[in-house]
Amino acid sequence: MTYRPLITGTGVFTPPHIITNAELVTAFNAYAALYNSEHSAEIDAGTRNAIAPSSEEFILKASGIEQRFVMDKAGILDPHVMHPLFRQRSDDEPSLMAEMALDAALKALDAAGKTPDDVDAVICAASNLERAYPAVAIEIQKLLGVNGFAFDMNVACSSATFGIQLASDMIRSGSIKSALIVNPEICSAHLEWRDRDCHFIFGDVATATFIERDSAANVAGFEILSTRCATDFSNNIRNNNGFLRRSRPDGVIDRRDMQFMQNGRKVFKEVLPMVSTHIADHLEQMAVAPDMLRRLWLHQANKSMNDFIGRKVLGRVPTSAEQPNILQDYANTSSAGSIIAFSQNSADLCGGDHGLICSFGAGYSVGSVLVQRRS
Ligand code: COA
Repeated sequence: MTYRPLITGTGVFTPPHIITNAELVTAFNAYAALYNSEHSAEIDAGTRNAIAPSSEEFILKASGIEQRFVMDKAGILDPHVMHPLFRQRSDDEPSLMAEMALDAALKALDAAGKTPDDVDAVICAASNLERAYPAVAIEIQKLLGVNGFAFDMNVACSSATFGIQLASDMIRSGSIKSALIVNPEICSAHLEWRDRDCHFIFGDVATATFIERDSAANVAGFEILSTRCATDFSNNIRNNNGFLRRSRPDGVIDRRDMQFMQNGRKVFKEVLPMVSTHIADHLEQMAVAPDMLRRLWLHQANKSMNDFIGRKVLGRVPTSAEQPNILQDYANTSSAGSIIAFSQNSADLCGGDHGLICSFGAGYSVGSVLVQRRS
């Protein structure tokens, strides 16, 4: 016997602080001025490069991002700090990721008309995990009061869609009846705010997706018709911070490659064809013609990238209703981006309508989830 998996609820936890592009650029330029004056002798002697200022116009034009939500604003905007500052938590308190995920998870369960008693598994799928172990997912399981099991996984920006594939396959096979996939993304803590090439890219958020077998659903929901995941190794998005750091002679923490690094241009050029082909192949294998797609909920990294993919997939320029972007408000929230887009832009679909959630990013990785609205 096989079961059909449905997404019956999603939830979004939005952090309390907003940083606009204007605030971001003011802080960065203050940091650059401090740095340049501190190192003026070397800069004048030509032995060190001065830091060039950032600009609001560039950020909006290059990315489409207008603002981002963050868990701490003061540290990021302090030119003497330039990263978030969180209070020390004791091991007896909920961790920050667990707290954010809990909020999103409860919203997802509420949307599905379910309680933690109805959850069989919790998957915490995120691009960075707060600690090595115990799994953040198991802590979330405990905070929710869920029986069953939980585990963490990381496929960077594709963590959510890969998690959805795992959960929906487990539901299909009958090993579980339901799962919560949570994506707490504290991107502000691994972004290098002192690098103008990328300081505007990320924001913080947590999302949750509740998936259950159709016979148990209280709401219509979206049937997961199929999922496809693909990976292809690349160093063009990389973060070298890892547990071997202390064991190596060059294991300095505050080094550029211990935060997010990317070769943005190359990512742009290489990931676009990978994603467009991946979606086209997935649709073809499922005999869903592009014009049958009512909506594309894409990863939210860059507006031009999404415009390009939308055009390639549909064979024409998609309307903003067909391919909604949320990156102007949230920036790139790694694995959570396509789930925010889905959560905030799916209620109007009618029974029978098809849509596709697609993530892509470091790895490289790409994951697509083909759904159909139930009536
Ligand atoms: N303010 C002003 N100028 C800036 C700037 C800033 N904040 N950051 C970079 N510039 C400058 C660069 O130095 C460069 O100057 P030059 O032409 O004199 O060398 C110029 O603007 C263009 O920079 P470039 O990095 O080539 O811009 P871009 O058009 O490629 O846009 C990204 C940058 C990152 C927005 C874009 O490459 C991108 O989105 N790539 C894909 C990223 C992605 O999806 N990553 C996945 C992460 S999960």
